[in-house]
Amino acid sequence: MSFEQDREYIAQHLDLGKEALYLTKNECENIGLSREEILDIIEDTLIEHGHQNYEMPAKGGVHPWPEVFFHAMPAYVPKMKACGCKWIECYPNNPKKYDLPQTTGLFVLNDVLSGVPMAIMDSTWITAMRTPAVTVIAAAALHPDAKTFGMYGCGVQGIEHVRFVVKTLKNLDKIYIYDIVESRMDDLIKLVQPEIDAEIIKADNAQVVAENCEVLSSATIILKEPLTAVKDDWISNGQTILPCDMNTYFDLKTQYRADKYIVDSHDEHEYFAQNGYFPKDKGLPKVYAQTGEIVAGLKKGRESAEELIVCSNIGMSVCDVTIAKAIFDIAINNKIGKMLPL
Ligand SMILES: NC(=O)c1ccc[n+]([C@@H]2O[C@H](COP(=O)([O-])OP(=O)(O)OC[C@H]3O[C@@H](n4cnc5c(N)ncnc54)[C@H](O)[C@@H]3O)[C@@H](O)[C@H]2O)c1
Repeated sequence: MSFEQDREYIAQHLDLGKEALYLTKNECENIGLSREEILDIIEDTLIEHGHQNYEMPAKGGVHPWPEVFFHAMPAYVPKMKACGCKWIECYPNNPKKYDLPQTTGLFVLNDVLSGVPMAIMDSTWITAMRTPAVTVIAAAALHPDAKTFGMYGCGVQGIEHVRFVVKTLKNLDKIYIYDIVESRMDDLIKLVQPEIDAEIIKADNAQVVAENCEVLSSATIILKEPLTAVKDDWISNGQTILPCDMNTYFDLKTQYRADKYIVDSHDEHEYFAQNGYFPKDKGLPKVYAQTGEIVAGLKKGRESAEELIVCSNIGMSVCDVTIAKAIFDIAINNKIGKMLPL
């Protein structure tokens, strides 16, 4: 479908330039986009990113308090005719302090031809879905035969990581989980175990997970001062580590000594490094490739069973915008959401 055809189709459902569709979190979540479809969209998006068929400046942000950030995350992916911007916040203390999620936000989707806003939607569900999709696609590219997976953090992201990972690592038989809040682990098991065959094991501590799993991921908290909860001594050759929380959880030593240090976006990681998330004297570990280049087959992934690979995915708006466009297409076709006058 050309850009013109796509616009004509949208114009049948929405008076472009005069109104925009508003979608709540609940409407996005129940739009009917399956995890398999999300994986397909994100894989295509990562391939486009690998081939540099996109526009995505590094996040710009404001920081009202030391550990919090707001990020403006614009992106354009021509293949999916997707153009827009996510406005997201990360307030690590929200769950404890206000009983609110760490991460919330809104997405604005625009018409590529005329630029007018077409939709405003909650972005919480988009973030909750696209993030694990990136992790597990990268896991499959780097460690396809893994039998064991470990997840640190059993909140929104941890739960979805466990749901998603069994869809790309097909040989998994054990999933170890760990969270400082024990009830979070119990809740994850209660919710997800009935849905999957792999056995979910509640670990007593972070070391058990590190020493029993070939592939590890973390979605805990993003802090400038690393927690170093997973000691470098517990990590062995041959493991694949996929943090979603920057360098907070895993020992920085592991990241500097990895045989391959891969990042979703070099620019994004430089932005975080400039904002004090890596030691000033050492900077970012030497980047071997971006995740999209591995997924697109432009750079080699794992080349030996002994390689220690770290693949840090901090989140890219190209993945938000393509999921937002897919949600929007379904919504207008099914008359979901509320039209707002512009
Ligand atoms: N990379 C990305 O694209 C991306 C996207 C969204 C969120 N995130 C990050 O992922 C993290 C988790 O997000 P969420 O929405 O799942 O948050 P959440 O609050 O729902 O879950 C976080 C979980 O981590 C646990 N936790 C905190 N400190 C811990 C520790 N020291 N050891 C073990 N567990 C610990 C908490 O108890 C909680 O259960 C945040 O840091 C967030 O910024 C990254």
